[in-house]
Amino acid sequence: MSANSLLLGVNIDHVATLRQARGGRSPDPLLAALVAEQSGADSITLHLREDRRHIQDRDLQAMRGSLQTRMNLEIAATAGMLGIAIRVLPADVCLVPERRSELTTEGGLDVAANQAAITEACQQLRAAGIRAAVFIDPDLAQVDAAARATVPVVELHTGSFAEAQGGGQARELGRLQAAARHAAACGLTPHAGHGLDYHNVRLVASIPELAELNIGHAIIARAVMTGIGPAVTEMKRLMRESRRA
Ligand code: PXP
Repeated sequence: MSANSLLLGVNIDHVATLRQARGGRSPDPLLAALVAEQSGADSITLHLREDRRHIQDRDLQAMRGSLQTRMNLEIAATAGMLGIAIRVLPADVCLVPERRSELTTEGGLDVAANQAAITEACQQLRAAGIRAAVFIDPDLAQVDAAARATVPVVELHTGSFAEAQGGGQARELGRLQAAARHAAACGLTPHAGHGLDYHNVRLVASIPELAELNIGHAIIARAVMTGIGPAVTEMKRLMRESRRA
């Protein structure tokens, strides 16, 4: 990777959410991941939640055998999830906080308050040859705690930036810039993600220290809109042809 390149990790959880809505096989998040890779994704991100609301354990195995890029598995830092990660051996694991009732990951991991447990989890991942990351708010104290946990990567939570308006957005961008700079100065590789979309991505992408952005909802939402026309056309064509036959 050149000093100035910025990688894109595509989060395919929402494809699995749609599949789970009917409990069948379609749409297949693995197929979505392969198309994303062919279209330039540098890695595929997936979150195995404790309640298995979208990604299932079998998806991990399927992706592990088929992805051409890096698999970035997001998990809560529990013994059970760490055990799964160490069995599946994705290239990357990002430790995220998880609350059952949340719609999506709300807030970063409090590494400072859980220093011993997070440090131990990162050491287990490193011993298995997995590159570990922690998903943290853009807060200098959390960056320091991540450095103490000897984790190589921090993913900065861009949710507050994405939700902020006007002057608030400039302030949140400033927090991201400062956290990315501080992380790099501490020898950590800063990534960022959450709530990034086609409107706000440029501001974050221009932070020079960031090495990777993880984006899910905006890409899948765009894919639904850009794909709906051809999908309807194809259905009409099949219906028309069956009347002609
Ligand atoms: N990074 C992390 C750690 C996440 O938990 C999520 C959401 O699953 C994302 C990035 C992607 O967020 P979004 O779907 O809003 O782009």
